[in-house]
Amino acid sequence: MVDQAKQLREKVLQKKPKEERRQTRVIAVTSGKGGVGKSNFALNFALSLVQQNKKVLIFDVDLGFANIDVLLGRVPKESIATMIEKDLTVREIIEEGPDGLSFISGGTGFSEMLELDEAKLDKFLKELSTLQGTVDYIILDTGAGLSYENLRFILAADDVILVTTPEPTSITDAYSVVKMIHVKDPNVHVKLMVNQCTSEKEGRETAENFRKVTEQFLDMQVETLGFIPTDSNVTNAVKKQTPFLLAYPNSQASRAVQEVASEFLELPVPYKLGFKGFLLKMLFK
Ligand SMILES: Nc1ncnc2c1ncn2[C@@H]1O[C@H](COP(=O)(O)OP(=O)(O)OP(=O)(O)O)[C@@H](O)[C@H]1O
Ligand SMILES: [Mg+2]
Repeated sequence: MVDQAKQLREKVLQKKPKEERRQTRVIAVTSGKGGVGKSNFALNFALSLVQQNKKVLIFDVDLGFANIDVLLGRVPKESIATMIEKDLTVREIIEEGPDGLSFISGGTGFSEMLELDEAKLDKFLKELSTLQGTVDYIILDTGAGLSYENLRFILAADDVILVTTPEPTSITDAYSVVKMIHVKDPNVHVKLMVNQCTSEKEGRETAENFRKVTEQFLDMQVETLGFIPTDSNVTNAVKKQTPFLLAYPNSQASRAVQEVASEFLELPVPYKLGFKGFLLKMLFK
């Protein structure tokens, strides 16, 4: 009897392994001009972070044109649209992607969400808040340009990665996005990612010019996150519906995105409210 009581006491006193809590940070990947490579970057960047032992959820918020699932060759059963329709929990709509990457599909009809009545929006955001602490990064793949919803996601994120190509049209549109962000909230941290460069020199020059212009005209510091070359393996991977990092791990594009992810992890974390702040801002903007 004594032994049993002792065993029981020891069991109770034994420390339960604490559930791992993570500091969830939200990164919005956006662009001015469309088709510059946001979704491909967001997905492969997310996978690079996963390969560096981070827990990552990619959340497709490209309203109406969601395509992370297409790039993954997956037909998700659920999406945000069906979550609201069928009253599911957010955990029920998370899909498992390759290498343990999680993703949430926007699905068609997601744009209606933001116009839903307040009770439904509240429920959605409350559901989303249950993810707090469960992943290291939530990466939002936004649509191009300055729609109202995009701006809300951008302004609520901890980090904004702005993707451009070296083409003047893409750069001027990226500049308009920075200008708008700056007007709304000068404290937002924007990092520039130059995709589809013909050489590293071209990437560097593009980023340097952009940095100078934003500093001169907006008094804003836009850091350079990195460069990805034009690489036919990206297009081939899109056709195979497999992320290029997995289909062609030794390609130039894969090596570049891995380098960007490593450097990103080395950067100091900008002070913002994190995921809770994201939800609060989404809710009260
Ligand atoms: N580094 C690259 N090298 C070669 N081709 C690329 C590269 N990045 C993107 N592309 C091409 O550009 C196409 C568009 O890319 P992606 O869908 O990622 O752009 P997006 O910015 O998300 O577009 P949207 O604005 O429509 O959401 C890809 O299908 C691919 O063919
Ligand atoms: Mg896209």
